[in-house]
Amino acid sequence: MPIHATNTSWVIETANTAYAFGLNEAGCLVHRYWGARLPSVNDYPPPANPAAWSSFNRPAQLTREEYPTNNDQKFIEPALTVVFADGVRVAELQYTNYAIQNDALHIELQDTYYPLRVTLVYRPLVGYDLIERSAIIQNTGQESIAIERVFSAQWHLPYGDDYRFNHLTGRWLDEFHIRREKLARGVTVTESRRLHTSHNHNPYFALDRGSADEDQGEVWFGTLAWSGNWKIAAEVTDWASTRINIGVNDWDFGWELKPDTRFTTPISFGGYTAQGFGAASRTLHTYIRSILPHGDTLHKVLYNSWEATFFNVDVESQKRYAEIARDLGVELFVVDDGWFQGRDLDNAGLGDWWPDAKKFPDGLKPLIEHVNGLGMDFGIWVEPEMVNPDSDLYRAHPDWVIHFPNRTRTENRSQLILNMARQDVQDYLIEHLDKLLTENNITFIKWDMNRTVSEPGWPAYEGEQREIWVRYVEGLYNVWGTLRQRHPNVIWQSCSGGGARADMGILRYADQIWTSDNTGGTARLAIQEGFSQVFPANTMEAWVTDTEPNLPVTFRMHVSMCGSLGIGANLTHWNADERAEAAKWIAVYKEIRPIVQLGNQYRLQSVQAGGGFSAVQYMSKDRGEGVLFAFRTHIPDPINPLSLRLRGLDPLSQYTVEGFEGSRSGAAWMQTDSLFTLKNFESTVRRIRQVG
Ligand code: DGJ
Repeated sequence: MPIHATNTSWVIETANTAYAFGLNEAGCLVHRYWGARLPSVNDYPPPANPAAWSSFNRPAQLTREEYPTNNDQKFIEPALTVVFADGVRVAELQYTNYAIQNDALHIELQDTYYPLRVTLVYRPLVGYDLIERSAIIQNTGQESIAIERVFSAQWHLPYGDDYRFNHLTGRWLDEFHIRREKLARGVTVTESRRLHTSHNHNPYFALDRGSADEDQGEVWFGTLAWSGNWKIAAEVTDWASTRINIGVNDWDFGWELKPDTRFTTPISFGGYTAQGFGAASRTLHTYIRSILPHGDTLHKVLYNSWEATFFNVDVESQKRYAEIARDLGVELFVVDDGWFQGRDLDNAGLGDWWPDAKKFPDGLKPLIEHVNGLGMDFGIWVEPEMVNPDSDLYRAHPDWVIHFPNRTRTENRSQLILNMARQDVQDYLIEHLDKLLTENNITFIKWDMNRTVSEPGWPAYEGEQREIWVRYVEGLYNVWGTLRQRHPNVIWQSCSGGGARADMGILRYADQIWTSDNTGGTARLAIQEGFSQVFPANTMEAWVTDTEPNLPVTFRMHVSMCGSLGIGANLTHWNADERAEAAKWIAVYKEIRPIVQLGNQYRLQSVQAGGGFSAVQYMSKDRGEGVLFAFRTHIPDPINPLSLRLRGLDPLSQYTVEGFEGSRSGAAWMQTDSLFTLKNFESTVRRIRQVG
């Protein structure tokens, strides 16, 4: 029974974890436990009843509330702050009742005076070992209530001030750096204020006690299904109570909760493991795969012409690239930026989503038919949220962009952002993109977003202006969701100048993420390692390009074979040997892709740790087959051989590993070192096979 409920006590259990809370003697909804599942429901500690420590430290401050507001004397990060119509700025919530609906526990809280109802929703994803949390804020009265902050959850950890905050940070071309930092007393914030999820931080947290590694140690982790401004406020109180607030960012946020309306937060996910960061990632990977629109569908090897041609797209040259790509074994040919009306450079065309009359006088069909005739699928790039001032769309609707009156409309890459919160903008995009997909045999769309926000105004809106941050994302989801529903066979890729829109919100619409605009092989190893903390390999689009031309083609191929393989190089510049090498590895990739894309991933050697090596292993879910990739990026000092212990094998079965003599037990491969001698920029791929 995953939800154990009484009138005062609630325990949410998954296969291996548990989260418990209950009412204490003061009637306050307090946290009790988050960790390994215990044998009996009675094993979880009772709610604490903290006494006042002094007149400066009242019980409210010491109580670990599930969803605190700012009443009493707490001085901690509240999960919810509101202003009532009469100007009162404090909500006092009291538990009223609970219900179990659709496998989720709903805890109802009611303000003691005002018509404000809060429902906390907890859903155990039992087999996935994750718990979903969200909150619904409802106005049951006659006057509006202003919401100033509304987090999805406050996740409490066992008492202690010795936590390490593991998170992902970076910048454009350099996303997904893993940072492991001691959590200081007070509040540590990671966030996005940029309208998209951001290159700079990802809404992911993992807390450990300072000693977890890939294979062992307690880790409490989580993320948020949201593709706009978000915030994580990790707090260590002066009473060594550590908690994670996660949700929509309250920076410049406001929401008018009108009478009889509700605000539902995005879903936050939380998980626990005692098997280190590797197990935490595999838990997220398995669940993310289950929510992808196309589930376990294997991704095709694609070619994308962006880095070969940039905006210089025309039918004849694209046909040429398609022919070479087909000869290498590519299965999906994607035309990137530059195909639509007026798009010769980045200063014009965005918004006019029909083929450029000069480049494609007969539309896209002749090219698509050629590509299909070669036996490949056809895909295309769009950037729906954007408009260039030099476009028919902007000339007709200059008021459709995000802007303030009397303020500069700051351009970035010569573009402005369409206000996706507006229904007319959503309708326009649905109409034009639907037409594009209906009239052409397009099976893959790369949806890009290439700038961050400025002057976040919505002059035409008469309500709370600061709702734009949330309504924009809802509009984005509406457009994407409608198109996906109308064209269910299309595979969508989420791109935002690389990996700036990588989150569990967008993965309900997109099957893949464009990991980074940095396609250099060595940089990619690090970016991919960070990406894999949260996202599975099938969502990780990885191209082989000419960015680091001195890297061996083999090395570059191997790097990209660790995800969803694509080629983005200028193939007309590749000689026969290079093409043959690429073709060879594409063939190998097709054999191993079920293991890479859908298997369990084990990070054996961290390149971000700086030792000059990277190694990653993938195992099929039944542990019958695997593949190991190892890379050497530079000569470390001292020069060590790469010694690895495999992971994820059945200890009692016999396995062979390509390049090593004979078979050995899984236990032997996992408990003894296997040595790999790699020269600079050398890489290797080894198949692992269960043989008995
Ligand atoms: C940014 C993307 O990340 C690139 O791959 C490419 O699609 C360009 N935009 C096109 O403008």
